[in-house]
Amino acid sequence: MVISDKLDKFFDEKMKEYPTTRSFLVPMLLYSQDEIGYISEELIAHLAKKTVLTELEVRNVESYYSMLRTKPIGKFNVHVCTNISCMLRGADDLFEHCKKTLGIGRKGTTQDGVFSLEEVECIGACSWAPAVQVNYDFHESLTPDKMDAVFENYRKKK
Ligand code: FES
Repeated sequence: MVISDKLDKFFDEKMKEYPTTRSFLVPMLLYSQDEIGYISEELIAHLAKKTVLTELEVRNVESYYSMLRTKPIGKFNVHVCTNISCMLRGADDLFEHCKKTLGIGRKGTTQDGVFSLEEVECIGACSWAPAVQVNYDFHESLTPDKMDAVFENYRKKK
């Protein structure tokens, strides 16, 4: 099985609440990505069968959304916002600090597979700039020192 039986059964139940199977495709891709780490070819084939869509139709949806990925990444995906509000409050320096601290560049993953790093547009936390999102958690009003503490906390959770 590409995904767990539990998740697959959840999809079967939830899909009944949507007007068409296609309407539930993006949530299914996101839930699956959370469980297995990325959108694999096997997953695309599985969801196509489940939704009675073609694999190309599933792939077209997958490739449209930047939060969906087709390759494995680190356990903690660090999104550093460098858009205007964050940029005015030191996001460029913060991003450079993250690159240096992790030893990776944009879209890189640390060798131990713990962190991946991305530079992103506004994540909706402008009032607390500069802001960083790690998986689904937000970290705000950051400085390089505060960012080091954030990394340390995630290292403890790995
Ligand atoms: S500009 Fe960074 S959160 Fe909005």
